[in-house]
Amino acid sequence: MMVYIVRQKINGKDYYYLRKSKREGKKVKSVFIGYLGKNKSEAEKKAKEIMKNLKTKEKEEINMEEKIEKKIELIKKDISVEELANFCKRRGFVYQSGEIYGGFAGFWDFGHLGVELKNCIKKQWWNYHVYNREDIVGIDGSIITHPNVWKASGHVDSFSDIFVVCKKCKKPGKVDRAELGKIKCECGGEYDEKTAKEFKLMFETGVGEGEKAYLRPETAQLIFANFKSVYENARMKLPFGIAQIGKAFRNEIAPRDFLFRSREFEQMEIEYFIKPKEDCPYKIPDVEINVFSSQAQEKNQEPVKMKIREAFEKGIVKKTWHAYWLATEFLWFKNLGANPDNFRIRQHKKDELAHYSSDCWDLEYKFPFGWKELEGIADRSNYDLNQHEKFSKKDLKIFDEKDKTKFLPEVICEPSLGVERAFLVFLFDSYYYDSSRENIVLRLNPKLSPIKAAIFPIIKEKEFEKISQEVFDILKQEFNVVQDLSGSIGRRYARNDEIGTPYCITVDGYSQKNQDITLRERDTTKQIRVKISNLKETLKKLINGEIEFEKAGKIVETRIK
Ligand code: GAP
Repeated sequence: MMVYIVRQKINGKDYYYLRKSKREGKKVKSVFIGYLGKNKSEAEKKAKEIMKNLKTKEKEEINMEEKIEKKIELIKKDISVEELANFCKRRGFVYQSGEIYGGFAGFWDFGHLGVELKNCIKKQWWNYHVYNREDIVGIDGSIITHPNVWKASGHVDSFSDIFVVCKKCKKPGKVDRAELGKIKCECGGEYDEKTAKEFKLMFETGVGEGEKAYLRPETAQLIFANFKSVYENARMKLPFGIAQIGKAFRNEIAPRDFLFRSREFEQMEIEYFIKPKEDCPYKIPDVEINVFSSQAQEKNQEPVKMKIREAFEKGIVKKTWHAYWLATEFLWFKNLGANPDNFRIRQHKKDELAHYSSDCWDLEYKFPFGWKELEGIADRSNYDLNQHEKFSKKDLKIFDEKDKTKFLPEVICEPSLGVERAFLVFLFDSYYYDSSRENIVLRLNPKLSPIKAAIFPIIKEKEFEKISQEVFDILKQEFNVVQDLSGSIGRRYARNDEIGTPYCITVDGYSQKNQDITLRERDTTKQIRVKISNLKETLKKLINGEIEFEKAGKIVETRIK
């Protein structure tokens, strides 16, 4: 649709009119809008005025691209990890670190959207595990700590992989000691056992005059080393946990699969301490998942879908505590919109167990490159506190007033999750395509969306831009919001759908008079009118899932979805 001024000469005199061209089927019709007078500059002025007073709907039509309405059809897109890496680069989520110098294997930089998604994941994890519970507190330990911490933990002596080279494709790879001679390279070739050698995974660094130290390979040990102080100063009572989120570093022999195995990553870990043999007072969350016991693996059987509680009752998961934490961790992903069908729990076989662990289950996810560990949930018993007691010669036991006993608490469970692996899961599970919109729709849970709302004036006009700015100033106090001022409305919606922005806010011709805006929901493209004065509260409730979209305002029909 186009609006234009027409000059007509009648009896030697000029007359000006405002007309618009309108497509009707295959034909374009010219339609009269108004008379503008006989003088050119007067006519231009009058035309502007008429444009301003045109009904919003007509105004919107003028500025909107013609678009044939189609039914929303969201299709789940299964993409490879390479496709996801490309998407992340294009949209500003993740870049290869040092790319301008050819890249640096195993290191990644997070872009303007990546850092937001990562922060939202960490915030949600902290809310769920620390703020929403009375039995867990957090710490933030140093990355370089006393080297004896790593001697006590066993990392200095035994945190290593076996470095191998494939006889066929010549690529280097890593295997666990127990896997040597048993597993093959991705290409199907055998690993050369003659050249296999031990490879230490901790990054070394020097402190001061060259004292050898290490970058921490896990956050867990900082929790153990601080255990007694936290217990006393936070006045905790068993059972209780200490949580930590922070960087970890591993000199991986073969970093691969985008963020999945990197050399620098972040962990979100909890050490959950109990009095030996203490029962779990919590109910095992009611969740169903594929359970893959070590026995089933040894007998080449398939995983079996069941409630985690049932797995405990059948003796597959041995301890209530373990069942409780497995279900609790799975529920965190489920509540944040991950697809439960892509998850299973798998018990470590005897030869897989880490030196400190008496039983370990992994929460696994079906990545495009196979079922892989997403989160480890190990029973570490009192191994670590025992070791730190031995090496530090400090008494780390606690005294139980009730039965006047002194003992070392046990870590009944250590839920340990990599932030980057969670990042991949949420992106894979939210990657959809809408054939009617012809664009990707990243259906992230709004709590995780990097940008919570994009605000745009429907047309480039001062009065609309002013309101848009006011809305931005109100919302920025609470959320990460942006203004998007350029391009057609359809294009602006598409841009935001693709990066997972759950809500778009449009300022139009009614906004000034009614002090309201149009709020559009990403997945359904439904739109409601919301008063500007209620917007912050409404958005908060919507993001937290406290109200249904259709009940948050009056539904309106618009042509551009
Ligand atoms: N404190 C126990 C511990 O660190 P882990 O299984 O070695 O156990 C726990 O690591 C989690 O950390 C893994 O389940 C994974 O999510 C993440 N993780 C481990 N190594 C990683 C790597 N190289 N790159 C990205 N994430 C990694």
